[in-house]
Amino acid sequence: MTARIPRGFFAEKKLPKVLGAVGIALVGMLVYLYSGRMELLHREPLKPPPADAPYLQKHESAEVRLQDLVSRMTLEEKIGQMALVDKNSIQDPDDVRAYGLGAVISGAGAKPDVNTPKGWKTLVAGYSEISKASRLGIPIFYGVDAIHGHGNVPGAVIFPHAIGLGASYNPTLVESIARATAQELAATGVNWSFSPTLDMPEDIRWGRTYESFGSDPVLVATLGAAYLRGLQSVHTEDGGVRVLGTPKHFVGAGSMEWGSSSNKDFHIDQGTTRADDARLRAVYLPPFAATIEAGAQSIMVGLNSWGDTKLSAEKYLLTDVLKGEMGFKGFLVSDWYGVYEIPGTDYSAAVAAINAGIDMVMLPFDYKTFVTNVTRAVRRGDITEARIDDAVLRILNAKFASGLFDDTTSKPTDTFGAPEHRQLARTAVSESLVLLKNKQRTLPLTEHLRHIRVAGSAADNVGLQAGAWTIEWQGIDGNWLPGGTSLLSGIRTRAGKGTTVEYSRTGDFGVNVMQADIGIAIVGEKPYAEGWGDNEYPTLSEEDMQTIKKLRVTSDKVVVIVVSGRPLFMSDVIASADAVVAAWLPGSEGEGVVDVLFGDVPWKGKLPLAWPDHIEQLPITTVGSTRDGSVPLFPRYFGLR
Ligand code: BGC
Repeated sequence: MTARIPRGFFAEKKLPKVLGAVGIALVGMLVYLYSGRMELLHREPLKPPPADAPYLQKHESAEVRLQDLVSRMTLEEKIGQMALVDKNSIQDPDDVRAYGLGAVISGAGAKPDVNTPKGWKTLVAGYSEISKASRLGIPIFYGVDAIHGHGNVPGAVIFPHAIGLGASYNPTLVESIARATAQELAATGVNWSFSPTLDMPEDIRWGRTYESFGSDPVLVATLGAAYLRGLQSVHTEDGGVRVLGTPKHFVGAGSMEWGSSSNKDFHIDQGTTRADDARLRAVYLPPFAATIEAGAQSIMVGLNSWGDTKLSAEKYLLTDVLKGEMGFKGFLVSDWYGVYEIPGTDYSAAVAAINAGIDMVMLPFDYKTFVTNVTRAVRRGDITEARIDDAVLRILNAKFASGLFDDTTSKPTDTFGAPEHRQLARTAVSESLVLLKNKQRTLPLTEHLRHIRVAGSAADNVGLQAGAWTIEWQGIDGNWLPGGTSLLSGIRTRAGKGTTVEYSRTGDFGVNVMQADIGIAIVGEKPYAEGWGDNEYPTLSEEDMQTIKKLRVTSDKVVVIVVSGRPLFMSDVIASADAVVAAWLPGSEGEGVVDVLFGDVPWKGKLPLAWPDHIEQLPITTVGSTRDGSVPLFPRYFGLR
C-alpha cells in the first residue's frame, strides 16, 4: 500500500504526532479506499466491450470500427498488438490472450506436432481462439514463409523458387501460383505469408539469390506485384483477404557488399548496402511501389544495413520515404530478431526501431521484456503515445481488411495439394527452364533413343529439387515428399517404350560398357537458406564434376541439367557439354523439366540475372554490368529457343 505513496510524504506533510497510531490507521484506511477507487478507475476500461460496440458490427465502416476499437484499448493492449512471437517461444499459450499478442509466426521448421493440414488447422485455430478470448477479442495474424508454396507441410505443392519464376517472366503464371499458394495456406488456417521477396541479387555468392525473381527492378516489380495480387485474391465470405502478403526485405537487400555481414557466421547476408538517394529511387523503391499499388498491407524491413544504420532503425527510409512520400498505409514488420541487431540495449533498440517506424516487431522470442520495455518507454516519453497509436491503427486496419474480426471459416473451395495446383507447378517448371547451350540439336530428346544414362546428385532427389524452405528451414534430402516427382522418375515415365533408362547417382556404369546415346547429368547444389548459403565460390561439387566426366566416357552426348539456386561458376563444364539447361530449384513437379526435354513443351525461360564467367565479374549490377568490365558468360535475358 505505502509503496504507492511517494517516499517523503509523511515527512513533508509533518503529520502531528498526536494523531499517533489512530491517525496513521485512519490515513491508512483513506489511502486504502483511495487506491481501491483508483484501481476501480483503472479497471473500468478493462471491462469487456458491450455486444453492440461499433467495432464488432460487420455493417459498420472499417474506419468506424477501427477508431472505436482503438479508443477502447489500454496502452498495454496496444503494445501487445505490436508483438510478433514465434510459436516455439510462447511459454504459456494463454500468454497470447494475457499479453494481447498481435501475431504468431511459425518460423521455418516450427511445425505442429502432427505436420498435416489438419494439424496446422488445429494449431492455428487454437491460438486464434485464445487470442479471441482476450478482453477485446482481437484476433491474431498467424504467419509463415510460403515462399514457394506452403513449403512447411508435406503434401503441399512446391512451386519453383522465385528465381525460376523470374526466368518465366510470366506475371499471369506468377499470379496463379500465388493464388494457389493462398488456397493451400487457407486450407491450413494460416492467414499471413512473408512473401513475395523483392530483393535484387547483384552477387551470386549470396545465399538468398534464389529467393529473388531476378536482378532487374522492372522484372521484380512486375512479378512481385503479380504475386501479391494473386496471394491476396482469395477472399472470406465477407470479402476479407484470406491471406495477407508481405513484400520483403525493405530495402536494398541483394546489394550488400561481400564480407560486410554483421553476423559472424555469414559473409554477405545481413550485410551493408551502400547506395545514394538516386539509386534508392531508381532501383530499390520501384518494386515496393508496385506492390503497394497492388494492395500491400504489410512490408518486412530487412536485416541488412543502409550505410552504417540497420534498416530497422532507418527513420528516413521507413517513415519519411516509405510511409510519407510513397504513401504506404499498411504496417511495417521487422525481420527475425532484427530490432535487436540495432546496437545498444534491448530497451534502446526497441525505442529506436519503433521511433524509426517499425509497427510490429518480429521479436520473435522474449515478448514479456518487450512489453515491459515499450510500456516504460512510453511512460518516460521515449516513445510517444501517438507513435504507438499510429502503429496499432495500421496493424488493426490490416486485421479488419483481412476479415479477421468476422467469419473467416474455410470455404469448401480450400484446396491443398490439388491436382490443378500440381499441373500449374508443372507448367511453371517448364516455363522456368533456360536453355544455355544446344550443340547440333542435342535436345529435344526423342522416343526413339535406344539408351539413356542418367546420373548426378540431383537426378533422383526431390529434396534437392525443392531447395530450402521446404519442411525445414535448410531443406530436406530425399524423395519422401508426398506427391513429388524426381527428374529421374519423370524421365523414366516419359522415355519411349524401347528406350533403356539406366541410373547411377555417381555415373558408375561399369568399364568398357556400350555407349549410351545420351548421358543426362543432373547436378547442382545442396539446399541452403539465408547466410548459410553464402558461398565464396559457387560451383559444382567434386562428386558432380566426376560424374559428368564419367558420363562423357559412357555416352555419345552429354546433357547437363543444373539444379541450383543461382548461376554457378562452371564455364569449363558448359564448354564441353553438348547441351546445358538451367533448371533452378523446380520444386515438387519434376515432370515439368521432362516435358521440355522431350519437346512436348517449348523452351521459354530467359536468365533473370547474368551468368558470370569468373569471380572478378562480381558483383554484377542491376543493369547487368560486371565489376571488371568483361562480358558475362551469358547476359541477363539470354535463353535459346
Ligand atoms: C528471414 C525472413 C523470414 C523470417 C521469418 C528471417 O530470418 O530473413 O525472410 O520471413 O526469417 O521466418
